[in-house]
Amino acid sequence: MKIISSILVILILQLYTVWGSITSIYLPTKIFQEIQTCENDNFHHPISEHQVVSQIDCSRLCTSVGECRQFMFDKQTKLCSLFEAGENCFSAGDIQHKVCYRQKSVCNSKKCSRCPVGYYGDQCENIIVDCKDGRDRSVVPIKEGRRSYIQPSANGPVIEVMCDFKWGKTLLMRRTSLCKEVNFNRTWNEYVMGFGSIHGEYWLGLENVFNIIQNFPTRDDNALNVILKVGNTPVSQCYYMGFKISNYSDNYAVSISFYSGGKTPSGDSLTNGIYSINGRPFSTYDRDQTSHNCPGRFNGGWWYLDDPVCSQANIFGRRSGDTYESTCHWQEDFGLETDFSWIEMAFKRW
Ligand SMILES: *[C@@H]1O[C@H](CO)[C@@H](O)[C@H](O)[C@H]1NC(C)=O
Ligand SMILES: *[C@@H]1O[C@H](CO)[C@@H](O)[C@H](O)[C@H]1NC(C)=O
Repeated sequence: MKIISSILVILILQLYTVWGSITSIYLPTKIFQEIQTCENDNFHHPISEHQVVSQIDCSRLCTSVGECRQFMFDKQTKLCSLFEAGENCFSAGDIQHKVCYRQKSVCNSKKCSRCPVGYYGDQCENIIVDCKDGRDRSVVPIKEGRRSYIQPSANGPVIEVMCDFKWGKTLLMRRTSLCKEVNFNRTWNEYVMGFGSIHGEYWLGLENVFNIIQNFPTRDDNALNVILKVGNTPVSQCYYMGFKISNYSDNYAVSISFYSGGKTPSGDSLTNGIYSINGRPFSTYDRDQTSHNCPGRFNGGWWYLDDPVCSQANIFGRRSGDTYESTCHWQEDFGLETDFSWIEMAFKRW
């Protein structure tokens, strides 16, 4: 009896010290129920998922995977999800049986281990200004569809963005029929600050976009990249060169030097002759810079023309509106095509 109980005590003690050493590098964090449900769990961007026995196994896996900084463990299904970024966990389903832990950056006087993604330097004292910066400095995995922290303006906030590190693109907006639709009929303030969730549909916000481009203000090879897909097929991946936007007091007026077809070129719906949005201020229904009720008719915000036509493109409209105008469309080449499965706007620089 004595032997058995001392074995038990030793076992419990061992378990305790294993977990003790784990909690010294892992901090419990929050789990939020995802506001946006997407069909595909890849929108939460786990590095990998594993069936394991316990929470301890899950934490060990995270420790052994160089890119892992956070894990989520489902106590019921024993599913262990590893993430490379994030303060907290997000989950579309039930969150009751799940725990989330973030790996601390452990520092000695010389160097820190595993900086949060986007941070670099011996003490993680620096942070990238956009996704291309992360790629150039090789401080991130060179992959598509990754989350990262960036700080576009030295005195501004640190924000989390979706990056395509492979092509050096910072994603400014995304719409997809794989996720619950986010309403884009929003106020001026919401368009300035951004809305939605980077795990689904979102707009990064005019002030953030302004700050990101502001670091490279006079370059003609700054581009706005627009990607449109129908089903799984990209029907457009075009570029607008010399892309930049002005500041708040200038109503974030847009500048584009020229259209460049790029891969899978589509028609030009943004700088097409008299329909060019070049120089136009941003309009929302509560701060309309047009005299044609364009935000109201198109159901969103945009650099609308001050013309009855408003714009040849409407990618901030509704996924299925009640009129052609109010529904997402890209007029040149696609005519009435409105059924996009994917719309993406990114800032790309070479
Ligand atoms: C857009 O939002 C405004 C303010 O909430 C509302 O008055 C307007 O009807 C909305 N437009 C549509 C088409 O839902
Ligand atoms: C905003 O941009 C305009 C045009 O470039 C400039 O004249 C103005 O000084 C800027 N305002 C602020 C507050 O930076």
